[in-house]
Amino acid sequence: MSSADDNVVVRLVTEDDKDGWQRLWRSYQDFYKVSFPNELDDFNFERFLDPTVKIWAAVAVNGLSGEVIGMINFLSHMSTWDFKDKIYINDLYVDGNSRVKGVGRKLIQFVYEEADKQETPSVYWCSDESNHRAQLLYTKIGYKANKTIYKRNGY
Ligand SMILES: CC(C)(COP(=O)(O)OP(=O)(O)OC[C@H]1O[C@@H](n2cnc3c(N)ncnc32)[C@H](O)[C@@H]1OP(=O)(O)O)[C@@H](O)C(=O)NCCC(=O)NCCS
Repeated sequence: MSSADDNVVVRLVTEDDKDGWQRLWRSYQDFYKVSFPNELDDFNFERFLDPTVKIWAAVAVNGLSGEVIGMINFLSHMSTWDFKDKIYINDLYVDGNSRVKGVGRKLIQFVYEEADKQETPSVYWCSDESNHRAQLLYTKIGYKANKTIYKRNGY
């Protein structure tokens, strides 16, 4: 059984977090066997810090070492199904050495709290069907929606 480490702090990124966030962002790409251009790192991070753009990143930081051990990227969008926007979690990654200690749960919980603060409490995300490890967490903090994702060919 995992337990949330009291020394782990989750907060929105600041300018100083770019290196820590970038390290995990690259590991996340390795996990998905994709490789985005470095310019996308800069583009994303600028948007995270821009208060006029509704995309954010939060990091989990080890309060003792200061090391960034987890990241979650999320955004807000309109929906015809509601007056309120919805929050979509785009990316979630916890450093290999820090897993099954409640860090992933804390990161999603942080997004729930941000969503509540913004009065847009609906939060959703996608998972690969084969990602059973992630789903061990997801079934404890959410429910599996009865949807299948389709994509335009080539994208
Ligand atoms: C998925 C991921 C973010 C989970 O992060 P994590 O910090 O290990 O998850 P947590 O420790 O918060 O997990 C919380 C719950 O899930 C369960 N769980 C998570 N991983 C588990 C595992 N490998 N074995 C057993 N239970 C597990 C825990 O029992 C825990 O429940 P509990 O708190 O009630 O005991 C992490 O494994 C990861 O970064 N994986 C690679 C990237 C990835 O898959 N991202 C998600 C893409 S959709």
